[in-house]
Amino acid sequence: MKLGVCYYPEHWPEETWKPDAKRMKDIGIHWVRVAEFAWSRLEPQDGKLNFDWLDRSVDTLGEAGLSVVMCTPTATPPKWLIDKYDDVLQVDVQGRPRKFGSRRHYCYNSASYREETRRITSVMAERYGKHEAVAAWQTDNEYGCHDTVRCYCPNCEREFRVWLEQKYGAIAALNEAWWNVFWSMEYNDFSQIDLPNLTTTEANPSHSLDFYRFASDSVISYNQLQCKLIREKSSYPVSHNVMLYFGDFDHFKFAKDLDIITWDNYPLGMLEQSPLPAEVKAHFLRTGHPDLISLIHDLYYGLKDQPFWVMEQQPGQVNWAPSNPIPAKGAVRLWSHQAFGHGADVVSYFRWRAANGAQELMHAGLNKHDGTPDRATTEARQVANELRMLGKKQTEVALLFDYENLWATELQKHAQGWSYWGLMFSYYHALRSLGLDVAIVHPRSDLSPYKLAVAPALHLVDEALAKHLESYVNQGGQLVIGPRSGFKTLSNVVQELAPGPLQNLMGLTVSHVDALRPGISDTILKGDETLSYSTWADLLRPTTAEVLASYTNPAYEGAAAVCQQAHGKGRCLTIGMWTEPEVLKVFLKPVLQSLTIAIQDLPEGVRLASREGRSYIYNFNPHEVKLELQDIKTTLNAFDLKFKDQ
Ligand code: GAL
Repeated sequence: MKLGVCYYPEHWPEETWKPDAKRMKDIGIHWVRVAEFAWSRLEPQDGKLNFDWLDRSVDTLGEAGLSVVMCTPTATPPKWLIDKYDDVLQVDVQGRPRKFGSRRHYCYNSASYREETRRITSVMAERYGKHEAVAAWQTDNEYGCHDTVRCYCPNCEREFRVWLEQKYGAIAALNEAWWNVFWSMEYNDFSQIDLPNLTTTEANPSHSLDFYRFASDSVISYNQLQCKLIREKSSYPVSHNVMLYFGDFDHFKFAKDLDIITWDNYPLGMLEQSPLPAEVKAHFLRTGHPDLISLIHDLYYGLKDQPFWVMEQQPGQVNWAPSNPIPAKGAVRLWSHQAFGHGADVVSYFRWRAANGAQELMHAGLNKHDGTPDRATTEARQVANELRMLGKKQTEVALLFDYENLWATELQKHAQGWSYWGLMFSYYHALRSLGLDVAIVHPRSDLSPYKLAVAPALHLVDEALAKHLESYVNQGGQLVIGPRSGFKTLSNVVQELAPGPLQNLMGLTVSHVDALRPGISDTILKGDETLSYSTWADLLRPTTAEVLASYTNPAYEGAAAVCQQAHGKGRCLTIGMWTEPEVLKVFLKPVLQSLTIAIQDLPEGVRLASREGRSYIYNFNPHEVKLELQDIKTTLNAFDLKFKDQ
């Protein structure tokens, strides 16, 4: 386990580099990430390369005993490059070209930009591929940041048509898959197909879903280009830093090309942007919500089923949320250990020294604008002294996450309050508040390591997926399936009778779905217990399943809300409605007990995590907590944590 920092030598006078490096080492930092936005200094004019300064800076870091993560600088193509071509700038969904003057303004499908990428990446790979101070790579920076996965330019239109032709072969197949007979949307040729923006009303959701897939594949193939060029010259591992609550490209597919997944963890910005209730946000104002943060840790661990890095860890105030509070004293230490507890191998702080100008001048660093230590430095130093080597995460419970289900349900929300992330969060929060470690994995992955697999919204389903899940359950797995499952085919059209190929597994059909306005709730009956739900209800009609709870609203004509079906050695539980974590727990607890998975009801803001080597207890509350659990009796100060080493 190691600490790191993001460093911009090009921002500071050269005489500061050596003392900076010495102080980094002294704090206990090991990794230093450089160069991801440095193109205009590496190549001030077309073809006029100037790498001397980066060489000197990397040497300085190396001489201090630090290891460098070298980045390709492609997130910020310089002005001369933009002016040289007319096909590099992205076009937004409104059809407006993005302008030069910030970052991420390039199109992934621009042939010119791919050529420039090839050139600069090869130069860097050649120069640093075997450099002894360098030990890892990062491609680009945060693909998709500022809403830049889906580009609507002529390059993308052309490439989308090629992508569709490869997928469907014949235009008739596409017309059928998309149900283009509706509103006379049929095409005679692939060359007629536009991108799905600027239509009078919404575009065909099947058209949009394929465009989302295409845009995701465009990011992936652009990244593959960089990975290949780097690997031709270097054996150092290749990483990329993905973002929090960002699903515009398929991270499971993307992760296959990388050696290490890293992500950028900004707990307070994340909380401020989240739709959590105002009182919850007030409570966690200076730490962020523990589950909001660790859901992303667990998701990114699951991308490769291996430890990840936090490449950018918030060290103080950020600049980009609607409001930007100062973190609690102790929060940086708490966040760092939370990341390690959930499977991080490295936590690297963003950034070394606060920027004195430009867009991020209100963003904190480990050091202040004048270069003197800010208080996160003290916390980072403490973390460095507390580190020890840890093994894998230990989990019996998996949550199934799929980017295509995110896209398909968000394209046709049907209920204003629908949110795929929101539903995931409800289930995750319920499981975490029972003291469980949770793996987040793809529905088609090997589920055999888990006693329980929970699929909050398994929307797009084909026979292969149904068989995969049936075999998991037959062999003794317990599956929990949430609302909107089995509703559509992979083409984003409905199954004639939901839940399509999942009917046998769930032992029921869905006769109707109800979509409620925010603020409206209704009830179900479980025995004589009345429980509430909101937003969404699947009206379940059991064929062979046992009914555990039913809706009370007469409009639903006696439909079941929660059903259970046995199969082979396992069982499938269907929870048809969108509901809060407290209600989910009513159904999840007996399931967990029957699987002999130990649960502990944790107080709000207190969480457990464990990895081979160490268990953690975290207190995200702004007050002291006395814990009186079955095996844990302890007192935690506000914003503090405890370890138990094995
Ligand atoms: C990240 C980005 C960094 C910096 C940071 C500020 O999204 O990768 O370059 O902008 O946010 O919090």
